[in-house]
Amino acid sequence: MENAVDTLKIIPMDAPLGAEISGINLSQDLDKVTVDRILQAFYDHKVIFFRGQKLTDPQLVGFAKHFGDPEHSPPNKSGDTWLKGFPELTCISNIKKDGKPIGSLGNGEAIWHTDMSYTNMPPTTSMLYSLEIPEVGGGTHFMDMYKVYETLPNEIKERIWGKVAVHDATYTSAGEVRKIYEEFDGNTDTDKAPGARHPLVIRHPETKKEALFLGRKSGASNIIGEPDTELFDALWDHCNKSNLSWRHEWEVGDLLVWDNRCCMHYRESFDDNDRRLMHRAQIKGSTPTAAWA
Ligand code: SIN
Repeated sequence: MENAVDTLKIIPMDAPLGAEISGINLSQDLDKVTVDRILQAFYDHKVIFFRGQKLTDPQLVGFAKHFGDPEHSPPNKSGDTWLKGFPELTCISNIKKDGKPIGSLGNGEAIWHTDMSYTNMPPTTSMLYSLEIPEVGGGTHFMDMYKVYETLPNEIKERIWGKVAVHDATYTSAGEVRKIYEEFDGNTDTDKAPGARHPLVIRHPETKKEALFLGRKSGASNIIGEPDTELFDALWDHCNKSNLSWRHEWEVGDLLVWDNRCCMHYRESFDDNDRRLMHRAQIKGSTPTAAWA
């Protein structure tokens, strides 16, 4: 397939977010006009995906660089990178080799979350390239956090304006206690929770739109200064009831890219006798800016 901007097609999903981009071979070099079209589609649709790609790890890293500086991924429990020679990539998989996992997250459900929002500078962008997929399940769902914010009742918008939330770092999205946080397991004191503090409503640095920045509902995560979790729970209820999400049905050779500043995502469980193998890159972020700043 020749790479020319006129072969490229952007096909929005029938959902608040998500678009397929067809007519492009990502293993070839991309010119600036093509990259700009892809980036614009990414800002417009929040999640974009390309089917039928055949990418090596260096090609995946090369494509990631169009979105910014690829970030080194968190190490595995032994302190090593998951993919030898590629610190910019990580492996998401349930596959075991010699009894040891070759990647993270296993086969269980990964709850709604924003990638690494428990750090001070969460990645701007994450991308997953699928190499093996299970027969059933393992789909990934994305939620439009611009629309979640926009559709909140005014009374709740007023209550959260100017507020900051604690993003407890103790648990992974698969519910495991992160090795370095073992001592905090079971801690319910929001003030003492390890992790970052971020504004609840952020302004996207590129689109300038406001988005609700929730992170994940785990551990002692909550809104600072609230006597209980009533307001935090109300925000999560709104997310769960709003029908502002879209499910990606994986095929082998999909490359899917999401904007971590305005989307949350969750991954369905699947049968552990099946194999699921994804290589993943993420792009360095900066401190999220409060919408009221
Ligand atoms: C993730 O939560 O970052 C991984 C999503 C997936 O495995 O589909």
